[in-house]
Amino acid sequence: MPAETIDVIVTSPPYNIGLSYRTYADRREEEDYLDWMMEVAASLRRVMRPDGSFFLNISGSSAQPWLPFELVVRMRELFVLQNHITWVKSISVGEESFGHFKPMNSQRYLHRGHEHLLHFTLDGDVLLDRLNAGVPYQDKSNIARRGHRQDRRCRGDTWFIPYETVRGRSEKFDHPGTFPVALPEQCIRLHGRKKAKVLDPFMGTGTTLLAAQRMGCSGVGIDIDEDYVAIARRRLVEDWLDKTDQ
Ligand SMILES: C[S@@+](CC[C@H](N)C(=O)[O-])C[C@H]1O[C@@H](n2cnc3c(N)ncnc32)[C@H](O)[C@@H]1O
Repeated sequence: MPAETIDVIVTSPPYNIGLSYRTYADRREEEDYLDWMMEVAASLRRVMRPDGSFFLNISGSSAQPWLPFELVVRMRELFVLQNHITWVKSISVGEESFGHFKPMNSQRYLHRGHEHLLHFTLDGDVLLDRLNAGVPYQDKSNIARRGHRQDRRCRGDTWFIPYETVRGRSEKFDHPGTFPVALPEQCIRLHGRKKAKVLDPFMGTGTTLLAAQRMGCSGVGIDIDEDYVAIARRRLVEDWLDKTDQ
């Protein structure tokens, strides 16, 4: 790919936690995994525009909690960590619970309800469109009090994005590790440039490209598994036809 051509990268690589992808074996020696991720990151740095944003979604497992942090530290060689967003998949507020709860049988570990979404840039000074990804004020009197011209404030760095409810794995395209389309949508919105060129080098079922398409952006997706690529193509075509039907 040509250098300095990509505006936004949103990706979720394999986490090295033993998920059963169709082709890729998600269990390497830890050092080998980290070296591989750094090799990928260097390639991504090359294709990013100087004002580009790279959103990396990563998580560990309860038994391997250090890995994502070790990766972040190594990424300092290549990037500035401009924002650290916490993607909340499920949460309890008081006695009420929101989002998908996957029971886990353990007396040691808590239910894992969040993942990391790391926003890397080349120099840490990329301007974002915070209101484009923002939320309305709860208390409308704050609009004038804070000197805003519109009913919109920054969403902050904690994003509650639950999974869409599905009844079985087939509705998740038989892929073990997808993210909801609202996640890349929010990243593209935050980056804010119209008709951005979006890349997902580990696209799986094409969720990032779907978000890009819905937002009038162009996209490039890569996956090692041909069946996932076929699913991604199908999703994009179906979504496009749905839109043109309306
Ligand atoms: C966590 S999943 C991404 C899922 C995606 N975000 C979605 O919503 O469908 C990681 C993907 O990386 C792919 N992968 C593993 N090794 C790869 C490689 N060397 N090149 C490209 N893709 C690879 C796997 O096949 C898997 O689909």
